[in-house]
This record gives sequence, C-alpha cells and structure tokens, in this order.
Amino acid sequence: MRAVVVETYGPLEEAAVRDIPAPRPREGEVAIAVKAAGVNFPDILVMEGNYQVKPELPFTPGKEAAGVVTAVAPDVAGFHPGDRVAAQVEYGAYAQHMVVPACNVYALPDALGFDEAAALGLSYLTAHFALRERARIGAGEKMLVLGASGGVGLAAVQLGSAFGVTVIGGTRGEGPARIVVEAGADHVVELGKENLRDALCEDVRRVTDGYGVDVVIDPVGGEPFAAALRCLAWCGRLVTVGFASGTIPEVRANYLLVKNITVLGLQWSDYRDRRPDEVRTAQAEIFDFAVSGKLRPHISAALPLDKFADALSLLRAGEAEGKLVLHP
Ligand SMILES: NC(=O)c1ccc[n+]([C@@H]2O[C@H](COP(=O)([O-])OP(=O)(O)OC[C@H]3O[C@@H](n4cnc5c(N)ncnc54)[C@H](OP(=O)(O)O)[C@@H]3O)[C@@H](O)[C@H]2O)c1
Repeated sequence: MRAVVVETYGPLEEAAVRDIPAPRPREGEVAIAVKAAGVNFPDILVMEGNYQVKPELPFTPGKEAAGVVTAVAPDVAGFHPGDRVAAQVEYGAYAQHMVVPACNVYALPDALGFDEAAALGLSYLTAHFALRERARIGAGEKMLVLGASGGVGLAAVQLGSAFGVTVIGGTRGEGPARIVVEAGADHVVELGKENLRDALCEDVRRVTDGYGVDVVIDPVGGEPFAAALRCLAWCGRLVTVGFASGTIPEVRANYLLVKNITVLGLQWSDYRDRRPDEVRTAQAEIFDFAVSGKLRPHISAALPLDKFADALSLLRAGEAEGKLVLHP
C-alpha cells in the first residue's frame, strides 16, 4: 500500500510517500481502507519530533480517517467488512490502509460522506470535550472562542451554537470573521487590535451588555489568552487547548481568586485512550448534528496523498481555511 513514511524527525518535506506492506489487524483491532484522512496541526509537531508523543521510527503520521472496514480480528464484535466507519488514532492515518483498536472506531451514518466524517473528528471532538467535559457549558451561557476561524475554533463555534450557547468568535481580519459568522457565531471580535488586553474586554462587554463571558475556549495562547482571561464573568471558566500563537502564557493566581475564575487544561487524546466510550458518545452526537444540519464542516480542499507536505505547509502558514483532507 501507499503511505506517508517519516524516517527521521525533521522538516516535514523530508517525509515521503512509499510502498509498504498493509498492516493486519491483531487482537482487538479493525483494519480500514482509508478514503479520507484529516490533516491536523499536531501532525506537523509529530513529524518534526516536537510532540508529546514520539512514535518509533519509521512511522506513518495522521490522527484521523474515514473509510471502509476490510477485516476485523476474531475477538472484535460490532464491526464487519464493508462497514463505513471513522477512526481516531495516535498516528497512522496518512495511508491507504490502517489498523485501529475497535474502541476507537465509530460507525458512520449513511448520510455522511467520507470527507465530512474525516473532518468531523479530532477538531470537533476536541471542541466537544472542551465545552462539555471541561467547561461544563450549558444552554444560555456566553462563550468566547479564540482562533475561531481555525480547526478547533470553528468546531467550537458550531458546537456552541448547537448547544444553545451565545457564541462570540475572536478572529483576525474580515475574511475569517465572515467564515465564523457563517458558522453560527452571534458576534465577532477582532484579535489583531493594538492593546488587546483592554480592547478585547471592551468589545466583549459591548456585545454582552457589560456581562462578559462564562467560558473562553483558547487554542491560541499568548496575548489573546491574557486578554480573554479579563473578559470572564464571575465564576467563568477558561479552557486552554493549544498555543497556535507560539507563546505559552502564564496565569497570575491572584486574578483567579478575585473573580472566582477557573482555568482548565484539555488534552483530548487522553480521553480517546482512557475513556473511549465517552468519545464514542460525543462522536455520535457530532455526527447527528451534522446529519440534522446543525453543523457543517468547512472543507477547503481534498488533496491526493502525494500533496501531504503542501497541505501541512498551508496549515502551518495559517493559509488553510477550515479543514484539509487527504485522499490516499
Ligand atoms: N489540546 C488538544 O487536545 C488539542 C487538540 C487539537 C489541537 N490542539 C492544538 O490547538 C491549536 C489550534 O489547532 P487548530 O487545528 O485549530 O489550528 P489552526 O486551524 O491552524 O487554527 C489556529 C487559529 O489560531 C489563530 N491564531 C494563531 N496565532 C494567533 C495570534 N497570535 N493571535 C490571534 N489568533 C491567532 C489563527 O488565526 P489566523 O488565521 O488569524 O492566523 C487560527 O484561527 C494547535 O496548537 C493544536 O496543536 C490541541
């Protein structure tokens, strides 16, 4: 089969598509013919050796896919060859075939295409766990999403709307702002302003009649994190999801105390590994929302596997609008 293979940690251009043997399912595993693989920012970090998990070399990157089951181990119940499925893995999805523990395989509704299913995985699951598991957000609350036009951000905007939350999307520039409004945000605030610490607070207070927000979802870090912390209402929660700005912020504990604020971390893949049943339930809800039209992934391009480096470079340069998928 053809697969992207990383032989040494380093620039992603050094990885290449190679012919390697297709993996076979061992105990507890399902084999899948990949029809679409989602492209994610952490794939770059894994390939360059800068991620918290360093796969043994050589390895195939890619954390999510949708496709068709080709074989199952004898001890696996619930999946059969021919089933349309999606899957979440630590790595291995940039390939024509992959094997996945059955607990990380999810049945696809008939109405969902493979591209859509691959795009409704990691970003949406991360956003779902940030909103529900970590922030415990409820209908009627107000939420600010930083990096709202990015993968996780746009998913948080759409899921927040589906959950009945008032959503404020934080973006830079008019193009991203338009996408975020189309995705269902009630308001958009500009993150590219001078003196963001004061400006963001003013903008958020203006659109919330002085209230602020109950929840901040932050995949950006850096200056926007510090500014967003100041936008929280009494007993507000900020979920730190990532550091797309490149800067890891610090929190001053006195500020948390004064406003009864909680800052929470999210490492979504821990839920995939430790609580797969909760992930299955969340993925089913996300698929249901998509089928009923409550959310729709914004897929900007589907590229052949050979173009993996182009796709990842677009992502790194911040030039990919919404989601990119690869067709192995
Ligand atoms: N914790 C987890 O379990 C988990 C799961 C998935 C992803 N992540 C992490 O979450 C982060 C975002 O992932 P993603 O897939 O959403 O990436 P993405 O699609 O590249 O989106 C990143 C967003 O951040 C914005 N941004 C970057 N620098 C900024 C700055 N200085 N000020 C304001 N906005 C800025 C970008 O806006 P512009 O378009 O204006 O540049 C873009 O909207 C990454 O660090 C990723 O590793 C964590």
